[in-house]
This record gives sequence, C-alpha cells and structure tokens, in this order.
Amino acid sequence: MDHDWIKDKVIIVTGGASGIGEAIAKLTASKGAKVVIADINDEKGESTVAAIEKADGFAKYIATDVTDAAAISDLVAQARRLGQIKFLVNSAGLQTYGTVESTSEVTWDKTMNINLKSMYLVAHEVVPEILKHGGGAIVNISSVQAIRSQKNVLAYATSKAGAVALTRCMGLDYAEKGIQVNCICPGSVDTPLLRYGASQHGETEAVLKEWGSHHPIGRIGTPEEIAQVALFLMSPASAFMVGQAIVADGGLGSVIL
Ligand SMILES: NC(=O)c1ccc[n+]([C@@H]2O[C@H](COP(=O)([O-])OP(=O)(O)OC[C@H]3O[C@@H](n4cnc5c(N)ncnc54)[C@H](O)[C@@H]3O)[C@@H](O)[C@H]2O)c1
Repeated sequence: MDHDWIKDKVIIVTGGASGIGEAIAKLTASKGAKVVIADINDEKGESTVAAIEKADGFAKYIATDVTDAAAISDLVAQARRLGQIKFLVNSAGLQTYGTVESTSEVTWDKTMNINLKSMYLVAHEVVPEILKHGGGAIVNISSVQAIRSQKNVLAYATSKAGAVALTRCMGLDYAEKGIQVNCICPGSVDTPLLRYGASQHGETEAVLKEWGSHHPIGRIGTPEEIAQVALFLMSPASAFMVGQAIVADGGLGSVIL
C-alpha cells in the first residue's frame, strides 16, 4: 500500500515515548509522517526521536502531561507549526490494581484522568485541527480488559471500557465529517507497562511467559503488532469502520480457560 495519505502530515502520539505509542511513532514516521510525541518521560521521548531521526524520519518530542488542558493547548499550538495535523493516537496510560475496597480515591482519579479523560482533553483540541484540514483519523488505545477482565483491576478496566464508549461516540459524531475514530483493545503486549505489571506478580520473565501461555496464540504480543493495526485504522483502507473497538489479543478475550 502506498502511504501518500500520511506523508508529511502531522500525527500526535500521546504516550509516544514508550511501548505501543513508541512503536506507532516509529511506524508512522517510517511512512513519512511528521510525528509529535507527547509524553512526560523526557529521556525516553528524546531517545525515541533520536531513533526516528537516525532512520531518516521526522519526529519532535513535546513534554506534555495529558491530564493538563493548558499543556495540551500548547502542544497543539506547537504541532500546528509543523504542518497539517490530521492524525491522533491516544496511547498514554498507566496500569493500576485494586478492588472497589482497595482502590483509593487518588488511584481512581489518577487512572481515570490519565487513561480516559486525557483522550477527551487531547481530542477536544485536536479535532478542530483535523477538521480544518479536511479530515483524518483518531486511534485510541483501550484494552481487552474493557471487554473481559482479570480480578483486581477495577479502575483500569473501567477506564478502558470508558475509552470504548468515547470512541464509539466520537466515531458517530465525526463519521460524516471525515474523521475515522476507532480504538484497539490489545491483549498483553511486551512493554514497560506490562513488565511492571508482571514484576508485581513474581519474577518478570517467568510471569510474562505464563501470561503468554494464557493467550491461545501461545505468547504475548509485540508493540509492533499493535502499531500495524493502528496504521490500518488510520488508513483509507478502514474508511468504512466507525467507532469500533478492534480486539488484537492473540485470542485472550475469546477463550474459556
Ligand atoms: N502493554 C499492554 O499489555 C497493554 C495492553 C492493553 C492496553 N494497553 C494500553 O496501551 C497504552 C500504552 O501502554 P504501554 O503498554 O505502551 O505502556 P508504556 O508504559 O510503555 O507507555 C505509556 C506511556 O504513557 C506515558 N504517560 C503516562 N502518563 C502520562 C501523562 N500523564 N502524560 C503523558 N504521557 C503519559 C508514559 O510516560 C509512557 O511513555 C496504555 O493506554 C495501556 O493501558 C497496554
């Protein structure tokens, strides 16, 4: 497939310094996009930019806390100077654990703010830009836990289910206006976030192997596999998909253990 649709267009990737966002930043840069990485991890943000530049791509890191509306306005103002903003990927997120009893209000609010409210805040600023340039696409990163959950992930799973509803509503609201809005529900993907989760359950490598065995495919996923789905959801090839939640989980959410 040729990638003229994304060449020289600006894409904002929240959480683009690490994991799934990093893989999406690298893949879209390799297709000619001007990638803006919005993250709070300055060191990883700059090293991802360096890796993209080394591969002859264009990327800029803009330190942005996606829970801060003023910082997001500044992000969009800076991104606008680079060209036409036509694509947004909301990948910033964190994993939290707890039941309804053990989840503190602080953890609940933090989880909702970073995983869910940020998607609204960033899209609130970016959608008018995309409309100005005749349309584009938004991909939100939800989780298979929006649909099927482990125990002890109350706030996380709730935030991810919210992302599915947000995506559906945005998809409907902008279908006629030329913005494709869809989300991805990944299973376990080998990123620092997942490795942190695994380390809470035992020896990291052993836990990752065990989690992989729960996926019918027999392994956890790679960030690059999720990036390919995101690229498809931004492309004209998926133009007839509106507000969908695409499960990319190695079969995890479909199997009875
Ligand atoms: N890895 C998995 O198994 C998995 C599975 C399903 C869904 N997800 C989702 O994918 C998304 C990406 O996760 P990942 O696994 O790549 O994790 P990751 O930790 O590698 O990357 C997340 C990025 O988000 C950034 N971030 C966190 N809070 C932020 C804030 N307030 N402002 C700006 N940036 C912030 C972090 O600095 C980090 O660079 C998350 O939304 C996560 O919930 C991951």
